[in-house]
Amino acid sequence: MHFKLNISAKNDQLSFKSSSALVKFFIEGNNLEKLLDDFFKNFDQVLNPVQKKYFLNDKNDELIYYSNGTEPSVIFLKKIKVNKEFSNDFFRNYFAGLITSMAGKEINNLNIMIPAFKHFPGHFESDKYMIQTIIEGIILGNYTFDKYKTDREVRKSLKVLLHYDDNKMVGKIVDVTVKIMDAVYFVRDLVNEPSITLTPQEFAKRTKLECNKNNIKVSVFDKKELKRRKMSAILAVGGASPNDPLLLMLHYKPISSKKKIALVGKGVTYDSGGLSIKPTSSLVEMNTDMAGGALVVGVIKAVSKLKLPIEIIGVIPCVENMLGGSSYKPGDVIKSYSGKTIEVKDTDAEGRIILADALTFASQQKPEEIFDFATLTGAIIVALGESLAGLFSRSDDIANKLILSGIKTSEILWKMPFFNHYKELIKSDIADVANLGPRWGGAITAGKFLECFVDENIPWAHVDIAGPALKHKSTNYTDKYGTGFGVRLMVDYLLSFS
Ligand code: BES
Ligand code: MN
Ligand code: ZN
Repeated sequence: MHFKLNISAKNDQLSFKSSSALVKFFIEGNNLEKLLDDFFKNFDQVLNPVQKKYFLNDKNDELIYYSNGTEPSVIFLKKIKVNKEFSNDFFRNYFAGLITSMAGKEINNLNIMIPAFKHFPGHFESDKYMIQTIIEGIILGNYTFDKYKTDREVRKSLKVLLHYDDNKMVGKIVDVTVKIMDAVYFVRDLVNEPSITLTPQEFAKRTKLECNKNNIKVSVFDKKELKRRKMSAILAVGGASPNDPLLLMLHYKPISSKKKIALVGKGVTYDSGGLSIKPTSSLVEMNTDMAGGALVVGVIKAVSKLKLPIEIIGVIPCVENMLGGSSYKPGDVIKSYSGKTIEVKDTDAEGRIILADALTFASQQKPEEIFDFATLTGAIIVALGESLAGLFSRSDDIANKLILSGIKTSEILWKMPFFNHYKELIKSDIADVANLGPRWGGAITAGKFLECFVDENIPWAHVDIAGPALKHKSTNYTDKYGTGFGVRLMVDYLLSFS
């Protein structure tokens, strides 16, 4: 964290404490100059003509004004063009950038004048959600992962005051958004943790701690229990690591629930590729290969904090994919928990193998819908780039709903082809299914492999988050650390049942 944030609503007369900053938006239009003059007159301040000309120029949309000793000391002026290019991610991105740029500045109070909702027709579902994106941007941008920096910056307090006419409403939005963001931070911390500390055991420990605080039941199936239950696919992948494999089962059950949903997440705390070892350049980020599992814990944590009326089962197979004398090997045949046999053609296609057992187990819990999240393939990044997740589903109903939540939260999903002929490509000569298809369409054949292990009567969607879960340059809040992708998306999806 850059700052210790304290976010609250404030709609009374504008008054400024010392070392205050103010954010003011101007919607681009004819009367900009007059609006600008009036705005400064209001503060008994004058904008230097050079600065004014600069800001009015079409080419510029941003100006930082420093006062001559009066408050607010700093005014961040920003022009917004509400045209075809305008994105509903605008405020998240802007505020994430702003908060990052404020680190080290001597500002104690950040006042934000929230622009009127009417300026953004069709872009936000409601003024509530528009304001939520502002708060999300501030908190997302304020994230840092500096626990391993010896000279980390001292955290200063920053009061953020949101000026809008309905104080009570804004207060409620702050409350809800902070709960969701807590879950996003939890996921980001877990994803960023190096695998030397985040073993499957540590993953389980942190998950238990979080669940105990939040009224969520957790069961851990250790190696012995996995053996007893014949979850041999998880055991095979985790076999070469001194840190034993395990399966986490989370259960959130409110007093009354409108739906029962299972969330399954890939929890590979390190993916070396196994005997099909990866080159160094591909190894570096492979401590993040548990992002799907972390997302599942994060979503359930948020749902519990928000007290949503939905029963959720979380299933996370957690392993380290290593190599050694007890490695599983290309050429092996594994009998999965479902009874189906898997021919191992490549030990680096390990995610789908552990998810096989997890999806069978999730199906047995008889949920009404199953979702799985996995940093499953490099192929999905080739197909979609880094910022979108691939969506695979034969249920149009849940796929379409999820896509809409994706657009709203800007955690965007793209529906991939999922025709049955892709299944032909993972046929095995010696087993029921092979864990690898040909080179082309690798994200789809991976999805088809997973489908073999899901109860066909339960609507299911697979989300490949290999791109957006990891840092990428498309926004100011995704460019440095694990992004926590999927929490905001799934919480929005689940909110629709309350
Ligand atoms: N964890 C990787 C996928 C991945 C790649 C995630 C890059 C994030 C960034 C997965 O286990 C893997 O190794 N996939 C292989 C599959 C191949 C062996 C069929 C891949 O994508 O190369
Ligand atoms: Mn792999
Ligand atoms: Zn992997």
